[in-house]
Amino acid sequence: MAVSLCTRFLGREFSSPLVLPAGILGMSYGSLQFAHDAGFGLVTSKSLSLEPRKGHEGPVVARFGGGILNSLGLCNPGIDAGLKEIEEFSCMVKAPVMVSLFATNRHDFEELAGRASDSAAVFIELNLSCPNVMDEFGIPLASSKELVADMVEGAVKYAKLPVVAKLSPNALDLPVIALAAQEAGAAAVSMINTLGPGLLIDTAVRKPVLAPRYGGISGPAVLPLALKLVHECVGRIKIPIIGMGGVSSADEAVQMLMAGASMVGVGSAVWLEGAQVLTRMNAGIRDYLERENFVSPDFIPKLERKNV
Ligand SMILES: Cc1cc2nc3c(=O)[nH]c(=O)nc-3n(C[C@H](O)[C@H](O)[C@H](O)COP(=O)(O)O)c2cc1C
Repeated sequence: MAVSLCTRFLGREFSSPLVLPAGILGMSYGSLQFAHDAGFGLVTSKSLSLEPRKGHEGPVVARFGGGILNSLGLCNPGIDAGLKEIEEFSCMVKAPVMVSLFATNRHDFEELAGRASDSAAVFIELNLSCPNVMDEFGIPLASSKELVADMVEGAVKYAKLPVVAKLSPNALDLPVIALAAQEAGAAAVSMINTLGPGLLIDTAVRKPVLAPRYGGISGPAVLPLALKLVHECVGRIKIPIIGMGGVSSADEAVQMLMAGASMVGVGSAVWLEGAQVLTRMNAGIRDYLERENFVSPDFIPKLERKNV
């Protein structure tokens, strides 16, 4: 049987179910092209704010047995420069890109969503869930259903593109937050952003490994949590989910699709293993489809839903 990796999501077709999550390969046109060439069906930009942000002083990324701890501090060139890179990418590569936006209040999300709508991006993602800037901005918006609803509602009002709300594993009741995003008009949700923050210690100098001390946790350690949260949410909401968190093999990507995700983010694995991980994963998903007689990832059966 001829199988295809083509995946339908929000009315569009993608060459693979694999998505480059926000922030993993930065923001330049070249890095987005690199990700596309590596085999991602959809690439996401670094989260862009209204003004450029320098981010935190290094070291800001460290590896540990379970993955990565990072506290980049949302460094980005600002919406104007970021959209220029996206424009260039779309013009040269003609592949779909999702623009990630970061703000701390409704007014700024409205303005960002309006500006991003005139770009070449196909979707807008709202980063409501970064745990690395708590010193500056306090608890992420994604912890509160009222704040999530307010930000999504504002962005949707000004957006001419489908809006995806990126949620946090730190929320006490994630399905309730996902439902609030849906009711406020989100076309989809993506989950999970990094967990924590957490801490790693350099025992030789008796100091935190990261200069900002704490950072968000991603990579293999968070996979079971991400799968469980996607599975839990899919029974509660009708909008589709981009599932991510610790996925680093074809089998884990299939697990994420079975848990209920429509597309699968692969972030830390690219940091830890290089972009060749994508070739291996796309080939492995194709093998799985052939073996199990599914024509495309859209036909992979979902695990029984938990209706609560
Ligand atoms: C170095 C690094 C930078 C990140 N930057 C962003 C960002 O700018 N915006 C965002 O929404 N998520 C950001 N994330 C979170 C990822 O998009 C993703 O949600 C998370 O890492 C879980 O997926 P993974 O385990 O496959 O990496 C970042 C993660 C890492 C490791």
